[in-house]
Amino acid sequence: MKSPLGLLLCMLLGVMPSLRAAQPQHDGQWYVDQLRLSMSEILTENQGLINTAPDGSIKNPALTAEMFLKEVQRGFAHNVDVTQLAGSRSPELISAALAGLLQAGRDHCAKVQPAINTEKDGSTKMKKFIPAIFGRLCADRFLSKTGVAIKQTTLGKGEFGARNHYNKPDAWETASLTKVSGANWEVDKGVGEAQPSQYRYLKPIYIKQACLTCHGNPVGTDAPYGHKMEGYEPGEIRGGISVSLPLK
Ligand code: HEC
Repeated sequence: MKSPLGLLLCMLLGVMPSLRAAQPQHDGQWYVDQLRLSMSEILTENQGLINTAPDGSIKNPALTAEMFLKEVQRGFAHNVDVTQLAGSRSPELISAALAGLLQAGRDHCAKVQPAINTEKDGSTKMKKFIPAIFGRLCADRFLSKTGVAIKQTTLGKGEFGARNHYNKPDAWETASLTKVSGANWEVDKGVGEAQPSQYRYLKPIYIKQACLTCHGNPVGTDAPYGHKMEGYEPGEIRGGISVSLPLK
């Protein structure tokens, strides 16, 4: 049974929501499930592009939405303690999990680029189903389901900024990217901030070997898909995944 004092406190919190710390509307499991669903929809809708041979047959069963997501889940569970998600309204935990899941999706998308771009007869056809595009399609779908914005952003390098206007950092993202680019910042550590009506979070992403064909050298030459090579080296910060989680 609740104590009279506890009951009084509950009543006060009920009529004065400002006394209660603002929270996300749903628990972590719900948000993560919605992002996974968004990924599944994007993968399914793009099967024709990424996985169907010219004769209409499936060219690579490992690239069906189901198999792709199985691998994404493996990467996700490796980086995030998924047992904490159900019932949790921690904005930091939820934001970090969402960034981690999108990151795992991007990573797997990078890994299967050769399979996506190779036809059944062995010929190559660049499909433009690359990590940044996959990530943006999933994030747009997720935003429409949940009101949570996830963005891939960057400070760029040298004379090169973000490749597209929608990836340009806002003031908070610029400050956060600068912070995680600092010499003493722990690798992979994100930065979060509770604001009155939203929680903002940014997770750094780094250049790996697989990124160099499009973001590496020679600097300033044409990259695949019509942008310029920025001259990145492995291990450098390329940018971040930014999450804006509404709080009520
Ligand atoms: C096949 C070419 C290709 C590969 C490989 C590739 N990228 Fe990109 N990347 C692009 C293109 C093209 C864009 C612009 C996407 C758009 O139009 O939304 C982009 C955009 C980005 C962005 C968003 C910021 C911006 O400049 O617009 C980030 C962050 C990023 N890439 C990181 C990476 C990382 C990290 C890797 C390796 C894990 C990687 N990319 C691998 C082609 C590539």
